[in-house]
Amino acid sequence: PIITYIDSTGAARSVNAASGSTVMETAVRNAIPEIVGECGGACACATCHVYVDDMWVDIVGEPVDMEEDMLDFALDVRPNSRLSCQIRVSDALDGLVVHTPERQA
Ligand code: FES
Repeated sequence: PIITYIDSTGAARSVNAASGSTVMETAVRNAIPEIVGECGGACACATCHVYVDDMWVDIVGEPVDMEEDMLDFALDVRPNSRLSCQIRVSDALDGLVVHTPERQA
């Protein structure tokens, strides 16, 4: 599946993601800026915060409670905020677009 990351300056980077990996892992593996992933995907740091593109919000779905709690530590949280380590890549997400924040927590 192809995932596109749009950074805070508007620059878009599209990469091929492995099914079963996460949107955070895919970003780190491809040196995508503005995603840190400090805790390695344990939903314990909020430095993998992304904004899911409006077109994809319904398909990606809502955060579960644990993620919701950790999102309190992210900066400038919006209704379409997610922690990218909690978004698992699958064929259903082919073409996914996420926006990365200027700063992580
Ligand atoms: Fe730490 Fe996502 S990588 S919460």
